[in-house]
Amino acid sequence: MTNVLILGAAGSLARVATQYLLDNSEARLTLYLRRAERLKNHAPSRVNIIEGDVLDSRCLEGAMVGQDIVYANLAGNMQEQAVSVVKAMKATAVKRLIFISSMGIYDEVPGEKYGNILAPYRESAEVVEYSGLDYTLIRPGWFTNSSDVDYTLTHKGDPFQGTSVSRLSISDLINRMVMTPDLYLHESLGISRIK
Ligand SMILES: NC(=O)c1ccc[n+]([C@@H]2O[C@H](COP(=O)([O-])OP(=O)(O)OC[C@H]3O[C@@H](n4cnc5c(N)ncnc54)[C@H](OP(=O)(O)O)[C@@H]3O)[C@@H](O)[C@H]2O)c1
Repeated sequence: MTNVLILGAAGSLARVATQYLLDNSEARLTLYLRRAERLKNHAPSRVNIIEGDVLDSRCLEGAMVGQDIVYANLAGNMQEQAVSVVKAMKATAVKRLIFISSMGIYDEVPGEKYGNILAPYRESAEVVEYSGLDYTLIRPGWFTNSSDVDYTLTHKGDPFQGTSVSRLSISDLINRMVMTPDLYLHESLGISRIK
């Protein structure tokens, strides 16, 4: 049974991914978030909820114990958050990290320059890419609430294709990596729907 720690579990994507993982895998989930009263535990046999801040090293390391995969769904000061996550993973010998970033961090979107808006995403991606962990960075296009699972992946160095992607599609990609943890190791994947 795979144990997955979801950081920033109240996030709009994390909520969809949590349900998707419950429906499509047998993984046991630990939801880590600030102000935990925002989430109800609908599946207590498979879900554990921990209230904590990712910048609280002690709490984060406690949550990491026994985990197989960390899925970071964060926002804000992402460089500091990434440093904290990597440090806690190393301290607890957890190797597999799925880290949500954004399209545009390598100026890979044809005709678009996002500039400083993406600085926290660029800086955190660099922390993850040089971490020595078994990471996968995910660079999604704009999120939609569409009920389709339809996506194309691009790799680092490729031009980004498309502009948007459903939260369900990103959840499907995360679920595939949870089921097959060796998938897309040390990769930075763009994800969007191209039709
Ligand atoms: N929306 C889009 O179209 C789009 C496109 C590409 C990429 N992205 C990026 O993809 C990521 C995930 O998206 P999302 O919609 O799920 O984001 P979100 O709803 O903003 O969720 C991010 C979560 O991170 C949590 N967080 C921030 N700092 C934290 C800390 N120090 N400790 C613990 N938790 C912390 C926040 O917790 P609190 O609720 O407690 O603040 C929030 O719940 C974001 O970085 C987003 O910018 C979004």
